[in-house]
Amino acid sequence: MQRHVQTELAARFLEYINGHTTDYAEAEMEIPAKTYFDREYNDAEREKVFRTRPIVIAHSSELPNADDFITRDLIGTSVLLVRQRDGRLKAFSNVCRHRGAKLALEEKGCAHRFKCPYHAWSYNADGTLRSIPFGEGFGGIDRSEYGLIELPVDERHGMIWVVLTPGAPLDIADQIGEDMDAELASFELDQYTLVREATYDEPMNWKVVADGFMDPYHLQFVHPKTVGPFFNTNVYALDVLGPNAARLVVSRRSMHTIKGEDPATVDLMPHIISNYILLPNTFVAVEPNHFEIWTISPHATDPARSTTTLRFLLREPPKDEKEEQYLEKNWKLLVHTVVDEDWGVGRALQQGLPLSNIEKTLSGRNEAPIQFLHGKLAALVSDDGDLEMAPPETPYPRRYGNLVGSGTEG
Ligand code: FES
Ligand SMILES: [Fe+2]
Repeated sequence: MQRHVQTELAARFLEYINGHTTDYAEAEMEIPAKTYFDREYNDAEREKVFRTRPIVIAHSSELPNADDFITRDLIGTSVLLVRQRDGRLKAFSNVCRHRGAKLALEEKGCAHRFKCPYHAWSYNADGTLRSIPFGEGFGGIDRSEYGLIELPVDERHGMIWVVLTPGAPLDIADQIGEDMDAELASFELDQYTLVREATYDEPMNWKVVADGFMDPYHLQFVHPKTVGPFFNTNVYALDVLGPNAARLVVSRRSMHTIKGEDPATVDLMPHIISNYILLPNTFVAVEPNHFEIWTISPHATDPARSTTTLRFLLREPPKDEKEEQYLEKNWKLLVHTVVDEDWGVGRALQQGLPLSNIEKTLSGRNEAPIQFLHGKLAALVSDDGDLEMAPPETPYPRRYGNLVGSGTEG
């Protein structure tokens, strides 16, 4: 993390902890409950927010070599991602141009060509059509027109983004903004290796999962025996760093040990988790020795389902048995904390909300990160364009404005 960012955050957290305060939104925000289950609203959200915007599909270390490929289902679209000979990536709709069979069936592998399981049409790794068995039946077509459908793809900070709409613009540096770009660059996330990964199909709207990630208010209540005791509940620093990107820092209890130290020189990293919210679907948690990438995808049709992939990355893969055991212990803790504790609450919330007679849920002033997400979504879904979260008026505690009533009826 850049020195000037650490200095600013250190001063801020010491003030918050001493003063028992945190960042605040200007007012409470009501969120229409139907955004979590209404079919029409969620159809609009998928089309306007997910299908036309860049979403993270993988980490670069998943495809290190030429001809390495992976396939992923994203909101019902199967995507085939292939590392090219020149080191760049191509992304394709994983569907044969003949009669639409799913082309690559494996989740990952290394191949210089892909053969369709139905009538064995084959394609090169660059997506061009290579051969058609009994090709005289197709003498009338221009084969150069029948390559795989290409999707926009970009790779930055070790993350691979695609857009599910062919021809859509894609420039990640532009999308996340200069400040977020510089901050992510400072961690050299592209130098890390994926060491654990798991994907969960869960009976929750994707926003239930996202809300949980962005919630420093629940820590001691939902996680009293796991991670709760290590963190300061309801103390956080939120900074909007780009048009679709924010930093959410939470502090460890160990923050108390740096009281009295000079914010300009103190090493803040052991005392925080720095979370990056890259809208719409990616959440990156940077810790001193590892980082995590969470990607959340809505189900293709059902608002009450979503798929989340958790990825755990280390600078170096474990070198010996002891490091392997340490990794396994941390991974199990993450999975238990998220899948059992957070999602235990989330699954029940999702089940109960539609018939609860609650029309609006409430997000407090101390829940500015959730207001940021829902304010942005409401603006995008209701075509108000990109909502700008108003900059804080006072240095500490920061107060974010301009989020209430910004199309949240959507
Ligand atoms: S559908 Fe792929 S070869 Fe026929
Ligand atoms: Fe949690």
